[in-house]
Amino acid sequence: MSPPPQTLKGKVAIVTGASRGIGAVIALDLAKRGSDVCVTYMSESSKSKCEDLAAEVSKLSNGTKLVYIRADASQEESAEQVVEITTKSFGNHIDILVNNAAIEIDRPITKTTKEDFDKVYHTNVLGPLLLTKAVIPHLRTPGRIINISSVGARTGYKNLALYASSKAALEGLTRSFAAELGDKGTTVNAVAPGPVQSDMLNQIPDEIKIPQREATAVQKRFGEPQEIANAVAYLAGPDASWVSGQVLNLSGDGNAMLDYRQHKCL
Ligand SMILES: NC(=O)c1ccc[n+]([C@@H]2O[C@H](COP(=O)([O-])OP(=O)(O)OC[C@H]3O[C@@H](n4cnc5c(N)ncnc54)[C@H](OP(=O)(O)O)[C@@H]3O)[C@@H](O)[C@H]2O)c1
Repeated sequence: MSPPPQTLKGKVAIVTGASRGIGAVIALDLAKRGSDVCVTYMSESSKSKCEDLAAEVSKLSNGTKLVYIRADASQEESAEQVVEITTKSFGNHIDILVNNAAIEIDRPITKTTKEDFDKVYHTNVLGPLLLTKAVIPHLRTPGRIINISSVGARTGYKNLALYASSKAALEGLTRSFAAELGDKGTTVNAVAPGPVQSDMLNQIPDEIKIPQREATAVQKRFGEPQEIANAVAYLAGPDASWVSGQVLNLSGDGNAMLDYRQHKCL
């Protein structure tokens, strides 16, 4: 297959949570389009997946490189470590930040603890805030920040209150960051996937995801990680210079969530 257009040639990107799932596909896709990439992961067991990803990138004909670091997004010191390895590897500038790392906890309200709250919010909200803060001094204008939200941010799902509300908070950060960072052309956007094939989707109960799939206009199917990466590449590239503060639903149907609730599938 011929390589995609080199719309990101010479860029430097960070993608959090990219040892597997959507993040790994986004990272590889950015590299294919010409960007060097630093990816993060959390579990020691995921290191080998990042090694494989780096090896795959090293075989690309465009000469891009991928480095990786174990950095828990929920921990305050991680952000500086991620920026340090990125700048040491690729020079003192960063063009693209994709805040992708996230976790979900499936738990009823009455069983939800403060520890659960801290875990989800520190990973899904505080992590993106701290990494954005650490990247800003190195952000080469016009920078691109892309936060990975979820359709769950604007839909109520049983037992997913922490996850859904953390994504709503991330969308709030997105709009405020966009207002704050736009002066020199930096854009900040979010993409909100519907259900996409991944380990995280495997954790979502069938009673939530099957009706969601059946209510999806486009082929009544789950999304593929590459379909998320395609939109991220657009937002990261020069064609999206006038798009900022937006949340782009990537769910195969603008009305899918509405239909799903109206049919009382849950
Ligand atoms: N899949 C879906 O249906 C779906 C739908 C809507 C939105 N999303 C969003 O899309 C993004 C990616 O989801 P996914 O389905 O690809 O997830 P996934 O398969 O569960 O992968 C999660 C990735 O995040 C990393 N990670 C988890 N906690 C971390 C932490 N504290 N610090 C650093 N990295 C961490 C994991 O690293 P390890 O391998 O080391 O654990 C892994 O690389 C998330 O923001 C998710 O909310 C997904």
